[in-house]
Amino acid sequence: MAKQRVQFECGNCGHTSAKWLGVCPACNEWNTYSEIIEKPKSSKKHKVDVSVSDHVEAIRLVDVSHQNSERFSSNLNEFDRVLGGGFVNGSLSLLGGDPGIGKSTLMLQVAHHCPEMKILYVAGEESASQIKQRGGRIGLKGENLYISSNTDIQSVISQARKFKPDLLVIDSIQTVFSDELSSLPGSVQQIRECSAMLQQIAKKENITTLMIGHVTKDGDIAGPRILEHMVDTVLHFEGDKNHFYRLLRCVKNRFGPAQEVGVFEMKENGLQEVLNPSALFLSEAEHAVSGNSVTCIMEGTRPILVEVQALVSPSSYSTPQRTASGFDQRRLSLLIAVLEKRASMSLAGQDVYLNIAGGLKISDPAADLAVISALASSLTDKIVNSDTVFIGEVGLGGEVRKVSFMQQRMREAEKMGVKMATGPKNTAAEDLNIQLRPAAFISDLF
Ligand code: TYD
Ligand code: MG
Repeated sequence: MAKQRVQFECGNCGHTSAKWLGVCPACNEWNTYSEIIEKPKSSKKHKVDVSVSDHVEAIRLVDVSHQNSERFSSNLNEFDRVLGGGFVNGSLSLLGGDPGIGKSTLMLQVAHHCPEMKILYVAGEESASQIKQRGGRIGLKGENLYISSNTDIQSVISQARKFKPDLLVIDSIQTVFSDELSSLPGSVQQIRECSAMLQQIAKKENITTLMIGHVTKDGDIAGPRILEHMVDTVLHFEGDKNHFYRLLRCVKNRFGPAQEVGVFEMKENGLQEVLNPSALFLSEAEHAVSGNSVTCIMEGTRPILVEVQALVSPSSYSTPQRTASGFDQRRLSLLIAVLEKRASMSLAGQDVYLNIAGGLKISDPAADLAVISALASSLTDKIVNSDTVFIGEVGLGGEVRKVSFMQQRMREAEKMGVKMATGPKNTAAEDLNIQLRPAAFISDLF
């Protein structure tokens, strides 16, 4: 009889090793290894039987039948936009996000907005009565929503086969389990096995499936990385605990553009779509103060106006503070160095605080120019016109560089009532009612 083999597996990435390790060599996480017992495989399986011909034949691409109308809408514009125009029939999606961000609420709202869609909701985290209570808040009647609290993957699958729902929701993949495995629900092995089975049912039975997944403290989806390879679409639901807006971001999409975002706001009666996000992120300050400047960033294909706020004040410590929230700290240090060297402004002995209004996290280099002008404005205590937008990447030489989607950004700025724009040389604002003030170098700003 084959011997059972003991192995150790990383709970974060699924890397295996013959002995226990304190730190995983694949993902560098500490203390994630746990013991797993591999079932002995039958030796027959391993031999490739060349005598039996395979029943599945390869087919030519031209002969593959395909209908274009294989999508159906969730009736939530922002959600459809992120999916690339609605759910694709028979697709497998993964929705990740911090606890309490609103993943379950979002799925209940899909049920609310699509009364004609038959939805099977596998609730591993809440009881049916808790879901009903929550549904009451968003006005969900739920005639089309079937709740199942059985999280054994075998019965989930047989139920889905029998029931043939238009949408199968697994809330969450960390709570479903297969009793053929000895490990606990939520372990790497269980997640891998269960999602592989869900993939099978999605593809073979054409049941559109959405799995909800937890995220780790670093913001990755908990469980093995292969989970993200296995699914067709990976969505991240993110936002700030202290703010009410929520961003639904697509990080992988086999059927549409990736990096698309949808914006929602969490209200007492559920998530509301935000059709004009720029209004959400511009600060409500009535009086202009020094240190504020406006930029336009791109989130996917979507321009959003945001306000950058800087505060530069004399430091009472020998090492001045540099703090950024919503912006990369190292990028801030770099821009401070560029400002000192190329525009002869000294920030030595000054504490620098940078904040993106509304709690948004931005990584678009087009915001550099606004950061530079906010810093300079706060340092010199001169107010930047609030109807001016600053768009441009700043290079180490102090030059203002071109950024992509300039026309879309300008159009959004015009829509929001901006009168003036500062950007790189040769910026054109064809048929827009915006006055241009090009800047080749950051020194041209002052
Ligand atoms: P939930 O969907 O349970 O989050 P997840 O499934 O991602 O863990 O979100 C619950 C949070 O949303 C909770 O903190 C309460 C809040 N909420 C509202 O503010 N308004 C509402 O109408 C609903 C239903 C929830
Ligand atoms: Mg939930």
